Amino acid sequence: MLRYDKLSNQLYIRNRAKFAAQMKPASLAIFNSNDIMPTSADGTMAFKQATDIFYLTGVDQEESILVMFPDSFHANHKEILFLKETNENIAIWEGAKLDQKEAFDVSGVKTVYWLDQFDRIMKGLMSEAKTVYLNTNEHTRATIEVETREARFGKAFRAQYPVHTYDRSAPIMHHLRSIKEPEEIEQLQRASNITKKSLDRVLKFVKPGVKEYEIEAEFMHEFLRNGSRGFAYTPIIASGFNACVLHYIENSATCKDGEVILMDVGAEYGNYASDMTRCIPVSGRFTARQKSIYNAVLRVMREAMTLLRPGAYLHEYHKQVGELMTKELLDLKLIDSHDVAKQDPAWPAYKKYFMHGTSHFMGLDVHDVGLWDRPIEAGHVFTVEPGIYIREESLGIRLENDLVITENGFVDLMKDIPLEAEHIEECMNAGVTV
Ligand code: GLY
Ligand code: MN
Ligand code: MN
Repeated sequence: MLRYDKLSNQLYIRNRAKFAAQMKPASLAIFNSNDIMPTSADGTMAFKQATDIFYLTGVDQEESILVMFPDSFHANHKEILFLKETNENIAIWEGAKLDQKEAFDVSGVKTVYWLDQFDRIMKGLMSEAKTVYLNTNEHTRATIEVETREARFGKAFRAQYPVHTYDRSAPIMHHLRSIKEPEEIEQLQRASNITKKSLDRVLKFVKPGVKEYEIEAEFMHEFLRNGSRGFAYTPIIASGFNACVLHYIENSATCKDGEVILMDVGAEYGNYASDMTRCIPVSGRFTARQKSIYNAVLRVMREAMTLLRPGAYLHEYHKQVGELMTKELLDLKLIDSHDVAKQDPAWPAYKKYFMHGTSHFMGLDVHDVGLWDRPIEAGHVFTVEPGIYIREESLGIRLENDLVITENGFVDLMKDIPLEAEHIEECMNAGVTV
């Protein structure tokens, strides 16, 4: 039994139809689940479904395979799910896996076989097929040390059928997945709403002396009680100087009076992510200096949001945001006009204080797949996350919301989450008598 509300199988039926429409004649496509990853001895990590097969089927179960063969001569082989067989022993130890009827209800795939039939069925299909689409991880920032089930499958399958033509699913999937369907936006909104609830809780909780991991626990508490399975990515709870360490994930320090805490956290819901960053004062009040940096970041964020619109290009957008940030850093006197005049275009002066990108695709994966060199389209979902990190002042400010691009602008999935410095202070001090 899953703890989240599933989306209708109509979504998955549509998603498969969109993929099938882009396949070559007489081709089939194969998608695999993730492995259950081992730890040590007989330990395993919690199962995390591979996002592509989830996008195409809604099946949230290990050892599942989707085969799509739109031109198959046999009507019942146009779409097939191969699943791990469920049996009494599995039911006793792990709980039953999907049976055929349940798998159909989840995915809308009518033909469901057990995995042990895979080799035999595929022999028949491969004698009909000319081209096979395999699903390689082509995320530009992926670094993969451990071979995934998908990659392992691809290697073995090509060895078994060496003279078929092979093609890549990834370019098709990256485009399809980047344009979110209404049901997906609903799920992303639910993830965001859980993140909001947890921030509300944290704003009341934080005071001098709390540990960063105590704050992490408050987030997790609210996530779990709302049907989330946890953080959509490893959370960053970084007080004081730690906020200047971009990938700080120790979350072990004590939050001290006078410091600002950078919190980059988001709940997952039904495998969809949310990705939020807020910065809050440990004492409940920002200093004037902290607020001036905060408001500079907020201005850049608000301007950046208006630049993300259909037809715009992400690399152009990032350049424009760099110009906005340059202006703010000049006003703050963190850089001067001489720094700007002699700057290296490949690493402009503003990068000294704002060294990461402003936006990335978001969806089933936090850094979701999408085509970075194509114009922005309605239905894309992006984060907007400018920041200023001043190591010499032990101060790092980043603000991050998630937006859905529409024909005329955007919908901010985090519009109800406190963002302005004064609003944050108000929430932190509500009920406190001075
Ligand atoms: N939390 C990861 C990111 O903001 O991109
Ligand atoms: Mn983030
Ligand atoms: Mn982000």
